[in-house]
Amino acid sequence: MILRQAVANDPSLEFAGEVRLGLTLRGQKELPSKYLYDEVGSALFEVISALPEYGLTRADERLLRDHSGDVMARLSSPLLVAELGSGSGKKTRYLLEALDRDEQTRYCPIEISRTALNMCERELGDIEHVSIVGFEREYLDGLREVAGHRRRHEQLLVLFLGSTIGNFDRPADVKFMRAVRQILNAGDALLLGTDLIKPIPQLLDAYDDALGVTAAFNLNLLARINRELGGDFLLSQFDHDARFNPKTRSIEMHLRSLRPQSVSIPRAGVTVQFREDETIWTESSHKYSQPELLQMAMRAGFRCDAQWIDEEWPFAETLLIAQ
Ligand SMILES: C[S@@+](CC[C@H](N)C(=O)[O-])C[C@H]1O[C@@H](n2cnc3c(N)ncnc32)[C@H](O)[C@@H]1O
Repeated sequence: MILRQAVANDPSLEFAGEVRLGLTLRGQKELPSKYLYDEVGSALFEVISALPEYGLTRADERLLRDHSGDVMARLSSPLLVAELGSGSGKKTRYLLEALDRDEQTRYCPIEISRTALNMCERELGDIEHVSIVGFEREYLDGLREVAGHRRRHEQLLVLFLGSTIGNFDRPADVKFMRAVRQILNAGDALLLGTDLIKPIPQLLDAYDDALGVTAAFNLNLLARINRELGGDFLLSQFDHDARFNPKTRSIEMHLRSLRPQSVSIPRAGVTVQFREDETIWTESSHKYSQPELLQMAMRAGFRCDAQWIDEEWPFAETLLIAQ
């Protein structure tokens, strides 16, 4: 069964407001990374996941393939499963297939991208003992709604895979996890997939692949502004720029202006000036150490129940229980 809860407020007004705000900042121009995922962006992200340079998704998938049974054995039944930013949900199949088949379980992907939600519903819609209820929502709004639909005695399992937590700056990541914790009851679970620190050249390749798919994914944000807000960005006049910031231990994606230029975005009510080499910061992907992860979980009100590590592409799957 597939249900759909539509977005309540007007997303295009919100997009226009955030574009105006981010591009008129006094110092570093910024755009929120959530806007990378429109129809084109979500499709490109799927391709990125398959690229040889981007080992992250395969590591996450290996861990779920090998340990979904262990995860489920540590949880009680009946379960209500929510996933924050499910994307296509391909890897989630391992977890859903490991669920108790004698129970009908509700799985609630929470996605800002309608395209990703559609992919997810198509990908996982054939699992008989699972009913999919998709929420086209921001993470916390969606999770609050899911928790509100919880039945008596159900344990809530929240999935946050693919190291999406790394898109939050430190310490916004802990703040976000604390906000998740506040929606949960004691004893509920969070399965967190996080990319671990690894050699910088390997990380740079992962975010700047030879085929240029990540560059297209990044540049699509400007194309999206042109499509949805009437902007006149010339895509050929911007370059994808992936760099490692050693202070924050994160990969930053930027879009670099190749010359001085002016861009007008009528539906956001702005004209923006760019200097040569000036950048728009579009995404951060923070990398973690194991001790840091455990500390972050503790500070957010969770205890670590189990952790599995992929050695081939250092990546951690951590099962956390709300205290
Ligand atoms: C890095 S992708 C990860 C997708 C998938 N979990 C995986 O591991 O491959 C992040 C996903 O979160 C969604 N997303 C980003 N920001 C969001 C937000 N604020 N609320 C809900 N979904 C969001 C995006 O549309 C995208 O599908």
